Amino acid sequence: MTIFVTGGAGFIGGNFVHYHLREHPEDRVVCIDKLTYAGNLSTLAPVMDNPHFRFVKLDICDREGVMALFEEEKPDVVINFAAESHVDRSIEDPGIFLQTNIIGTATMMDACRAFGNVRYHQVSTDEVYGDLPLDRPDLFFTETTPIHTSSPYSSSKAGADLLVMAYYRTYGLPVTISRCSNNYGPYHFPEKLIPLMIANCLNNKPLPVYGEGKNVRDWLYVEDHCKAIDLIVRKGTIGEVYNVGGHNEMANIDIVKLIIKELGKDESLITYVTDRKGHDLRYAIDPTKIHNELGWLPETKFADGIKKTIQWYLDNRSWWEEIISGEYQNYYDKMYGNR
Ligand code: NAD
Ligand code: TYD
Repeated sequence: MTIFVTGGAGFIGGNFVHYHLREHPEDRVVCIDKLTYAGNLSTLAPVMDNPHFRFVKLDICDREGVMALFEEEKPDVVINFAAESHVDRSIEDPGIFLQTNIIGTATMMDACRAFGNVRYHQVSTDEVYGDLPLDRPDLFFTETTPIHTSSPYSSSKAGADLLVMAYYRTYGLPVTISRCSNNYGPYHFPEKLIPLMIANCLNNKPLPVYGEGKNVRDWLYVEDHCKAIDLIVRKGTIGEVYNVGGHNEMANIDIVKLIIKELGKDESLITYVTDRKGHDLRYAIDPTKIHNELGWLPETKFADGIKKTIQWYLDNRSWWEEIISGEYQNYYDKMYGNR
């Protein structure tokens, strides 16, 4: 089987490429990535020489380039991870989010249609459901929770999801969608909460906590997400949405304090900064459907996953130090300089 993985030079796509080549060595994996600021070829360095792997630098919005690659490779499955993924960047500049996340999704699905209705999986997010109140721990996102977005990022992902379901109904394209909670693990770009706090701690820099740090996220180890996607692609029901996540809700401030403790630093590094505009309060997934239908459950406990993740950042300093020493510094100054 030939699988197209878009966005495979990013965090989750990169982990998925490694997972897939390990678990299904008989498959051919073709990674399509534009190599934006978030794409990093060093994430793929360990598999670059694998004869079952090919990397192609390509924008998923480049219709001609995408069609030509379909013609050449004749994929059996397309898994679309490629996206602009950072909420804060979407607040600063929404345009590229609409382009990549919506137009890019449509372009990939058009190619799937043009080449015999290729099986298509959309990697989406729980953020399409908006947020839940902090004082209602009994509420969770299910697959029937209405779409109700807060940020340009989540709106662009929701727009893509609506298109995916429209292509299913209108053209019969064999699609599935997974909506996952916040991931953490190796190769996570240091603009996101967990790697940012690890990197800043290691550099003894202030730890910028938005608002009062009470917002809650439901954290999932990235490999558990990869397993869920693999299961959905192989055994999921066409035309269905699956929520992925699992009862691991934590307030941001508790995550930051845990990282400080693990790294033997001092809580005086914590700096409360101006809150994110439109900041979602709480995300919490109900994974009953994927559990009942596909037998999926998260396997990595947060206490173990966060230790493994911190150790990875300690063991792979050059991976993230190279990122934060470049253009990232301008981003950081702009976002956090006067916050
Ligand atoms: P990321 O920002 O780390 O990586 C995105 C990758 O996509 C990068 O390699 C980038 O170069 C590539 N890319 C961007 N625009 C492209 C384009 N036009 N054409 C081709 N490649 C392009 O993102 P991530 O955190 O790995 O997220 C992957 C997917 O998972 C996204 O669709 C995101 O919405 C979704 N998701 C992420 C999380 C999370 O916690 N990170 C949770 C749920 C869902
Ligand atoms: P993030 O990793 O950007 O993921 P998302 O917004 O998609 O959930 O942020 C996770 C939480 O951490 C979110 O509530 C915002 C907060 N946060 C901070 O407090 N400080 C930071 O520097 C960052 C990047 C995020």
